[in-house]
Amino acid sequence: MNEGKNAPLARYRVWDLTTRLIHWSLVLLVLMQFGTAEWGWLSMRWHFYFGYAILVLVGVRVLWGIVGSDASRFAHFVRGPRTVAAYMRGTLWRHFGHPVSHNPLGALSVLALLVLLAVQGISGLFASDDIDTFGPLSGRVSNATVRLMTRIHGINQKLLLGLITLHIAAVLLHALVRREEHLITAMITGCKRLARDPQLRFVGIGGALLLAAALAFLLWAVLRWGQAVAAY
Ligand code: HEM
Ligand code: HEM
Repeated sequence: MNEGKNAPLARYRVWDLTTRLIHWSLVLLVLMQFGTAEWGWLSMRWHFYFGYAILVLVGVRVLWGIVGSDASRFAHFVRGPRTVAAYMRGTLWRHFGHPVSHNPLGALSVLALLVLLAVQGISGLFASDDIDTFGPLSGRVSNATVRLMTRIHGINQKLLLGLITLHIAAVLLHALVRREEHLITAMITGCKRLARDPQLRFVGIGGALLLAAALAFLLWAVLRWGQAVAAY
């Protein structure tokens, strides 16, 4: 799946529209989450709406990692601990010069980002500041659970911020030091410069929209159930 360093490079499509749309939507929505909860942007009602969108997008991305386009599938880029260690030691550095999708270390951060986003979104459903903001499912669980979830929401928020900082630093490092600015342009245009055609199979965005609709419906049903007693 990786290309030789010195072979002539040509542009090939790697990231489908679904993966790129999910990525840049998540960037915007996560920014809005910190804006609404920390910096007084809009109101906490919007924190909830954006949070629901994040939950649906993360759900679609996880399912897309199983049924989506080749380069976006977990099986295509998630590697075992040995490969990751070898990559980190740099012994395979040369051979991972132009990975088709995520490099072995980047793959781990992709998984971690998705997990932290899911934890943040799910804990938010049950969190409460006990003043005027009550997560939509907080009325359905005990006070102890609400306290626990609020704590998780508070701690995980910092972990998420740390990992996002690391993520952006790593991407910029590739762009600046290794002159692999194609990582960022690839997430925008979908195309990477590779030594040969990776012969990837792409799945249209229609399938992703269906998944999004199904997950949104599921979330709506859960929220309706929670609403029977929710105070917000
Ligand atoms: C809230 C902030 C961000 C979050 C939550 C986030 C999350 C993610 C996730 C989940 C992926 C995996 C993509 C996939 O396979 O679906 C990814 C990849 C990527 N992100 Fe971000 N991202 C953020 C900010 C940024 C920013 C600001 C940039 C640009 C400077 C960026 C550039 C990239 C690039 C280039 C990749 C692909 C890396 C590779 O080729 O291995 N991200 N990001
Ligand atoms: C990835 C998505 C999310 C991010 C990044 C995020 C971030 C934050 C942050 C930074 C705070 C302030 C915490 C503090 O002051 O210690 C907060 C509070 C809160 N969030 Fe979220 N949130 C997300 C999703 C959600 C969702 C989906 C809900 C519910 C629908 C939610 C409900 C709440 C509630 C009820 C609070 C007030 C509780 C408290 O003060 O800790 N959040 N969130």
